[in-house]
Amino acid sequence: MRIHRKRGWELPESAATPEPVALKRRSLMLAAGAGAMISLEAQAQWLFGRRESGDPWQRNPADIPDLPPAMRNTRYQPGRAITGEREPVTYNNFYEFGSNKDIWPTALRMPTRPWTVKVDGMVEQPGEFDVDDLMKRIGLEERVYRLRCVEAWAMTVPWTGFQLSKLLEIVKPLGSAKYVRFETAQRPDSMVGLRQSWYPWPHIEGCTIEEAANELTFMVMGIYGKPLPPQNGGPLRVAFPWKYGFKSGKSLARITLTDQRPKSFWETLQGSEYGFWANVNPEVPHPRWSQASERLIGSGERVPTQLFNGYGEFVASLYTNLQNERLWA
Ligand code: MTE
Repeated sequence: MRIHRKRGWELPESAATPEPVALKRRSLMLAAGAGAMISLEAQAQWLFGRRESGDPWQRNPADIPDLPPAMRNTRYQPGRAITGEREPVTYNNFYEFGSNKDIWPTALRMPTRPWTVKVDGMVEQPGEFDVDDLMKRIGLEERVYRLRCVEAWAMTVPWTGFQLSKLLEIVKPLGSAKYVRFETAQRPDSMVGLRQSWYPWPHIEGCTIEEAANELTFMVMGIYGKPLPPQNGGPLRVAFPWKYGFKSGKSLARITLTDQRPKSFWETLQGSEYGFWANVNPEVPHPRWSQASERLIGSGERVPTQLFNGYGEFVASLYTNLQNERLWA
């Protein structure tokens, strides 16, 4: 199916809604051992067993367990200020809830507990995992990653989660598995966007097994030390910080190891503009706008785009023998 509908996130960057300047890092950090820290905010939540009641973008705390405090992994330095909390949780792309940026009140209606994710396909030990059990079994850490949207805006976000490779260790991929396919849940009761039947639901994303095993590939369950709200893909999403944001499948219901390259939702809709690899590259423009620079959500500052979104030291070697592929979106 090839549909030429103008999607909200395809607006020229100049037409995107400006965001209020509200940058102030909320969490002071506490040194806690070599190279690791716990935010005071996360500690307070853990001690008092609840989140701030003044966060309208969080689901009712009674539904969702607080996150245990997570150590910040300082190996991944963002090199820029963390975006104020309000922007990442209220400025979202999540088409299952609608095709504009302000879907968060609609998304908050989706219950995210209980929630299981099925991991199947070419693995020795497939399973259906309760996300809270998984979180306890693997353990969480915090990573501050840059997030670069294909629309040429960027944020810097403290995610809480675990490395995908740790989940792969549990399910044990077979040697024949070459790709990982990420499937978003379909919850028609709350995902009103699913009624737009011209979109190729369910939302699918994918990567190679090498990309999945890379240390940067992160399964996210929290943001700013709090449970990941549905608008950001709660309770479980994937993050590839060196790729355009559209690769980060949200609210995952199923992860499948396969020998077939998954065809993603956006690729199915418009493969000429949104490909399988989608690595960030300032020198390869989107067919309708430049990728040379990006606007920081919050401050509005415009900064140069970095190759692989600045994560080349971790991922460039994944692509050395793939020069014939369309690696850049
Ligand atoms: N996942 C699903 N299931 N549906 C979507 O519409 N949008 C993608 C990605 N993951 C999307 C999705 C796009 S275009 C972007 S830029 C990021 O989610 C946005 O993540 P954020 O809202 O947390 O910034």
